[in-house]
Amino acid sequence: MRRSTVAAAVGALVAGLALYGSAQAQEEPVQAPGAQQSTLRAAAEAAGKFVGTAVSDGRLNDASYSEIVSSEFSSVTAENVMKWDTTEPNRGSFNFGPGDRLVEFANANDQQVYGHTLVWHNQLPGWVSNGGFGAAELTQVMNDHITEVAGHYAGQVAYWDVVNEAFNEDGTMRPSVFQTTIGDGWIAEAFRAADAADPDAKLCINDYNVEGINAKSDGLYNLVSGMLEQGVPVDCVGLQSHLILGQVPGDLQENIQRFADLGLEVIITELDIRMTTPSDPNRLQQQAQDYETVVSACTAVPGCAGVTVWGISDADSWIPGVFPGEGAACVWDENLQRKPAYDGILAGFGS
Ligand code: XIL
Repeated sequence: MRRSTVAAAVGALVAGLALYGSAQAQEEPVQAPGAQQSTLRAAAEAAGKFVGTAVSDGRLNDASYSEIVSSEFSSVTAENVMKWDTTEPNRGSFNFGPGDRLVEFANANDQQVYGHTLVWHNQLPGWVSNGGFGAAELTQVMNDHITEVAGHYAGQVAYWDVVNEAFNEDGTMRPSVFQTTIGDGWIAEAFRAADAADPDAKLCINDYNVEGINAKSDGLYNLVSGMLEQGVPVDCVGLQSHLILGQVPGDLQENIQRFADLGLEVIITELDIRMTTPSDPNRLQQQAQDYETVVSACTAVPGCAGVTVWGISDADSWIPGVFPGEGAACVWDENLQRKPAYDGILAGFGS
């Protein structure tokens, strides 16, 4: 589509070969001939997909954490540091240090960077949300932010979540400051600004509770269909996929397919599967099954580009802080040990 996939494919091949080489070099001789130590990254690669994780800036210095990020994943998303409150805490004053750190990490490990996120009502500094700007000035503020941030990372970021969480549950537009001040055109405006700032990045709209076919995902579907008809540069749809144990929507694959049928890429952008804590073996088995179901839905649809999980370890997950009494949503436990979900993901990629 808009981005050259050749460089990405070559990079992925080199990374795959390098991984294959190092896996071979480190293998214990006890392993049966032909048996191969797999990684999520190798499994995704074999399925023609990327597999990513959200990365917490504060955890990158921990060697066991960063070893998992670099060896298991082919894509990284900044969990927080590319959001507006970090990148432009005051008007016209930009802070790219932490985001640049992640880009460097990704380059050192042959990983793609997934940009998250340019315009969102959360983690939005007060000078924007309470600035009292009129439509023209808020449009300027939004476009300046997009131009500076997407411009700074141009050539380094494969995808951008240009707009995050723009919908209400009933499929109408969320009354964010952008929606109430600028009106319906703000989303198309944001995509045009992002396209001008980084013509090579794939530009996505991302949301939650849009994994199944429902009023909210219908709203999203209608919006992107209209944008495509009007020639607005939208390339992809992100399904966050903050899911609940045992509740993967039965029509997830059908939903991915309908967006893909519009010619858009679909990405599972923030996968985690939470449960009532503490976990137990049955719940962890169900969780492995659920992870497999989500990943295989992506694997089954050629237009689904990849799956990103939202963090490495249950110890760092955002879930317990936001959903009291729930957690254990990630693929590694509090001690950075793999959970059954790990094998669920491998199986979902067909490995
Ligand atoms: C979360 C982070 O994981 C937390 O560390 C932060 O405190 C709040 O945001 N949807 C999104 C993500 O698009 O950016 C959110 O990330 C989780 C929900």
